[in-house]
Amino acid sequence: MRVAKLPDDRYPAISDLAKKAKKRIPHFAWEYLDSATGGETAMHRNAKALSDITMVPRTMKGIIEPSIETEMFGIKYSAPFGIPPIGYTSLMWPYAEQIFAKAASEHRIPHCLSTVASDTPENCGKISGDYGWFQLYPPRKQEIRTDIIKRAKDSGYHTLVMTADVPWPSMRERQRRAGISIPPKITPKIFAQICMRPEWALRTLFRGQPNFDVMKKYVPQGDLKKIVSFVGSELGGCLDWDYFKKVRDQWDGPVVLKGVLSTDDAKLAVKAGADGVWVSNHGGRQFEASPAPISVLPDIKKAVGTKAKIMLDSGVRSGGDILRAKALGADFVFLGRPFVYGVAALGAKGGNHVYELLYHDMINNMHQLGITSLDEMKNVELKF
Ligand SMILES: Cc1cc2nc3c(=O)[nH]c(=O)nc-3n(C[C@H](O)[C@H](O)[C@H](O)COP(=O)(O)O)c2cc1C
Repeated sequence: MRVAKLPDDRYPAISDLAKKAKKRIPHFAWEYLDSATGGETAMHRNAKALSDITMVPRTMKGIIEPSIETEMFGIKYSAPFGIPPIGYTSLMWPYAEQIFAKAASEHRIPHCLSTVASDTPENCGKISGDYGWFQLYPPRKQEIRTDIIKRAKDSGYHTLVMTADVPWPSMRERQRRAGISIPPKITPKIFAQICMRPEWALRTLFRGQPNFDVMKKYVPQGDLKKIVSFVGSELGGCLDWDYFKKVRDQWDGPVVLKGVLSTDDAKLAVKAGADGVWVSNHGGRQFEASPAPISVLPDIKKAVGTKAKIMLDSGVRSGGDILRAKALGADFVFLGRPFVYGVAALGAKGGNHVYELLYHDMINNMHQLGITSLDEMKNVELKF
């Protein structure tokens, strides 16, 4: 019997990477990454709803060789999971976006660059190659939208993701308590936090303060403060189905709507031309009362059928969770904080480590379930 070989046995689970990340980055960066909104019950509900689903193992299957290769939108991915958009990622670890893009192309999984990333599509697109997706928050000005879409296309991005679940900024109480602001205000408290994380501080000093690099272009001669205020007034608050259809018409590749939890919205997305519906509550960061995406997945799958691909994120923390989502109808699964924990904990090796950990965990779980292909997940007996 072959035991899974991980790059570093000190971190066999996502929770080990989270613990290490917390010790390696300043408290304010940790709070930005790890927090949700309100009392954070949505974030906890996401994880609980997944772990409450049990899968009945099957035995006596002899020698099996599970495969998790997954084809989507004409691309063969090595696994059915990827890295979703994360804004301002270089706050957690300098050059995190490029580390993700590299892990994506090396392992053949998607990396979705955010509109509010701290790196550009021009830099990251050539690293992620065929595996790059680009996420759009809706700019109000048509010329900015058109330019961002063109830049993403010219940089080689394959799939466009439109995020729908940020109609308004959420409260993010824990971030406020931590004194987080962009640009960071260097109060004595924040300065002390930075001094306690010398490697992060030095690397950040060499890279330079993270900025909204995609948006910088639209605020010529603007300092970070002006860019932040521009981003706040320009992005969001304007998305409707007409807007979505315009974006659909501007992109000659797959378009996915992210942040869908309602069956009606899923049906409308398909009607408006979406190739994919991404079931997500933004990791519990937007609306505390929202249901766990896994709990609405079966109804959305029933409503959408095979008319569009279905993606899911929020609370996924293991290969077992990815299989739970597959069993309930997801074509593809994304993990936000886990990939960032990996990079904050292990730097350039983090993306690779999270990939290996999830890959082996999926294969291990498939042996327990006695299945060789992900298609067989629909036959696995579930107990709630
Ligand atoms: C720090 C952070 C920043 C995020 N930034 C974005 C973003 O810019 N655009 C977006 O569509 N989603 C963003 N998300 C949401 C993720 O894409 C994803 O939906 C979420 O992290 C999934 O939940 P999980 O962290 O429990 O896996 C962000 C999430 C985190 C944790």
